[in-house]
Amino acid sequence: MEDFHYREGGLHCEDVPLAEIARSAGTPVYVYSHGALERAYRELDQAFAGLDHLVCFAVKANGNLAVLRSLASFGAGADIVSGGELYRAVRAGFDPKKVVFAGVGKTEEELACGMGERILLFNVESASELERLDRTAAKYGKKARVSLRVNPDVDAESHPAISTGQEGSKFGIPLGEAVTLAEKTREYRCVELIGVHQHVGSQITKLDPYTASLEKTTGLVEELKRRGFDIRYFNMGGGLGIRYRDETAPTPKELVDAVRPALESTGAKIICEMGRYIAGNAGALLSGVIYRKKSGGKSFLVADAGMNDLLRPSLYDAYHEVRALSESTGLTTADLVGPVCESGDYLAQGRELPEAAEGDVLALMGAGAYGFSMASNYNARRRPAEVLVRGDRWSIVRERESNADLIKGELVPAFL
Ligand code: LLP
Repeated sequence: MEDFHYREGGLHCEDVPLAEIARSAGTPVYVYSHGALERAYRELDQAFAGLDHLVCFAVKANGNLAVLRSLASFGAGADIVSGGELYRAVRAGFDPKKVVFAGVGKTEEELACGMGERILLFNVESASELERLDRTAAKYGKKARVSLRVNPDVDAESHPAISTGQEGSKFGIPLGEAVTLAEKTREYRCVELIGVHQHVGSQITKLDPYTASLEKTTGLVEELKRRGFDIRYFNMGGGLGIRYRDETAPTPKELVDAVRPALESTGAKIICEMGRYIAGNAGALLSGVIYRKKSGGKSFLVADAGMNDLLRPSLYDAYHEVRALSESTGLTTADLVGPVCESGDYLAQGRELPEAAEGDVLALMGAGAYGFSMASNYNARRRPAEVLVRGDRWSIVRERESNADLIKGELVPAFL
């Protein structure tokens, strides 16, 4: 989080005081650091030095066009999971030759769009999808490049809601069925099997889930090559964890060094698809304090941001550090809650928080990944603005929604 720091007593993003952004753009507002995005991307990229590789950004973590455009300009590829993310990625300027498409429920329309853009790989997650892809490719006179997403059955040792690589999960093809499915691709005329993909979970803070899963999935690559398949891509997934509070996760270099022999054994181009590692600590959510109140012996700070703006605390009981914009602010034990009509609407619970006065602004750190991208309009709340900072410059990269935005597309039928 070095791109968010106190300078002369005030919290800054790079060279811009966050108070200036809050004053001029209003709150709640997401603020992203271009420098932090670049540093995290380059750190990953350099960790793979010596290996033919492609670092993709998982668009689901942060789909803002300016964020995506920044990453595309660094040379990143994109990992997408829907036609909407494909649209965003293309609009942001990603080279379609660097786009990989995962997801258990790709529709025919989405498959066709991916082929239309000539994306690099479809990470196929079931036998039915493979068949549908072949049929769709034939219909449009195309050939689809395929990577099989396999489920290696390992424990990501992360939050259950974001673990994806265990037996019984909806994701991927069970490892034991992968060879049979690969053999099946020989019957299809319009798909070409050239890759293997795994992704075992998110916010992974240990090496074991990677070493254990890669042992299995790189073994599959070997077996497929032995059977004559030209496996040219191996996608090790994303999932590398970050520090929100006191977690210690391996660095990209530690991760790659630990699995380098396994990756080398594939002889393939290595793809990774990180979201949180790249964007997580590159963003903060600024929220104003509307009221202070006491109830039932507890103190509450009522924020103008709620669970609809940052869902992670409510959904996963996730921890986001709360900082005051002024370094000299004292601390108090309180709950930081939002205005949404749900008891589960909180941003921090029973924590030592800055002793903010009504009208003060607080910064929720580590909000660059799965922050705005999971925001909703619940309670008819307008989603926040987004700002990108680069050095001493900053710009609004998404306007705060208007009331008109809230009802866009709604129609009153003639029978009313
Ligand atoms: N690849 C695939 C196939 C994925 O499903 C995901 C994330 C990623 C890559 C990127 O994972 P990352 O590097 O960001 O960990 N909403 C949750 C996280 C859900 C992750 C879903 N898949 C959260 O806020 O923690």
